[in-house]
This record gives sequence, C-alpha cells and structure tokens, in this order.
Amino acid sequence: METDADAKQSSLVLIKQGAEARVFESAFVGRRSIIKERFSKKYRHPSLDSKLTLKRLNAEARCMTKARRLGVSTPVLYAVDPVLHSLTFEYVEGPSVKEIFLDFGEQGIVEERMDDITKQIGDAIGKLHDGGLIHGDLTTSNMLVQSGSNQLVLIDFGLSFTSTLPEDKAVDLYVLERALLSMHSSCGNVMDRILAAYKKSSKQWSSTLNKLAQVRQRGRKRTMVG
Ligand SMILES: Nc1ncnc2c1ncn2[C@@H]1O[C@H](COP(=O)(O)OP(=O)(O)O)[C@@H](O)[C@H]1O
Ligand SMILES: [Mg+2]
Repeated sequence: METDADAKQSSLVLIKQGAEARVFESAFVGRRSIIKERFSKKYRHPSLDSKLTLKRLNAEARCMTKARRLGVSTPVLYAVDPVLHSLTFEYVEGPSVKEIFLDFGEQGIVEERMDDITKQIGDAIGKLHDGGLIHGDLTTSNMLVQSGSNQLVLIDFGLSFTSTLPEDKAVDLYVLERALLSMHSSCGNVMDRILAAYKKSSKQWSSTLNKLAQVRQRGRKRTMVG
C-alpha cells in the first residue's frame, strides 16, 4: 500500500547530493520546483547541529530575498520547512552559465551571447556588493540563464553573508576568477569582461578592485609555497 509519504517521496527526483544539502526536483502546488534539504553533519552534537542547520537555512532564505530586493534575479522562494530543514524554490528553466561556457569552449564563442552574459554577471555582483551582500560561492554552476528571456538568475545563497568590507567583496570576485580559470579557460578572458561590467554597476568598484589585486598576490604566493 502506498502511503502519502511514499507518494511524496516518489515525486522527488534527486538532482544533486552535496556535502551539506540534497537538491531535488519536485512539484509545489502543481508548479515545477526545487527542494533543497540541508542535512546534519554526523560528527556534531545532534541538538547543536539542528540549531546550526536551521540557522544556515534561514540565512540562505534571507540572503536570497535580500538579493532580489537589490534588483538581482533569484528564484522565487515558495516555502521554508524548519522541521525538514528544507527550502522550496521556483524551478528556473534554462541552462547554467557553466553549461553555456563549456559549449562555447567546444563550438566557438558566440560573441553577442558572451557579451550579454558577462555583462549580466558583472552587473548582478555589483548590485549585491553595493547592497552589502556577499554571495560566497560565485561559480558558473550557481548562475542560470532563463530560457526565453535570457535573464541571468543567481542561485545557491548557502554561503552568503552580509558585509561591506572591500576584502570580502574582493574574495567573492576571486572565487569566481579561479573558477573561470580552471573551468572555462577556452572562453578567453571572461573575467575582464565581467569586471568591466562590475565597474559600471558598483559605485565602490575602486576599493574592491584594489583589494582584488592584493588577494590575487596572496593567492600566487600560496601557489608558489604549496
Ligand atoms: N531554482 C532552481 N532552478 C533550477 N535548477 C536549480 C535551482 N536551484 C538549484 N538548481 C540545480 O541544482 C544544483 C544544486 O543547487 P544549489 O543550490 O547550487 O546547491 P549546492 O549548495 O549543493 O551547490 C544547481 O547547480 C542547479 O543545477
Ligand atoms: Mg551550488
């Protein structure tokens, strides 16, 4: 006999099993949706763990909502479940920037599309940073491009926090730079295009980019040592 719980289970499709969360595709009142469920780390004390997990869950929801208020497209948050430690989001139809850039690498770069996407990325990060929000995990898998509108949508605010420090903003950009270098080197200098858009978008670009130069140098030293 199938119970309600079984029926719910069977409508979930696992998309990603990460270290801190499982991501499922599901339906929420008939709409295609994403459920992100944080799970406990076995080595932590259970009640402390539950508190920390809940704190992170709320922080993720809050940061995503803040990003949206700052004019950055994010999925609509449908529900927060403090018992299951899960967030339910609108499903964004369209490829990730990772998929698009990997395609560019193989099939040659479509200049207009590249220009449009890099502009949107720089613009979005500038808006977040001027609003005092650090994304914390700016990789091309955490950026989706909505089919039809070609609107850039930022996801995965699981490591986000608020800060107005140029250092935090610079590290945010540095994470993206490293990800682009390791994953999308065949696309040419994508980071320069993104930074050009960032400069137009962020009023505080100068102090952030000065810090970025320092953060890069630290990174280089570390590479030489290790
Ligand atoms: N709202 C969404 N719409 C469509 N796909 C999504 C959405 N949210 C997440 N995904 C997919 O699930 C993957 C994992 O979600 P994410 O929030 O990045 O979790 P993690 O913290 O494990 O990286 C994403 O890289 C993306 O492929
Ligand atoms: Mg992610």
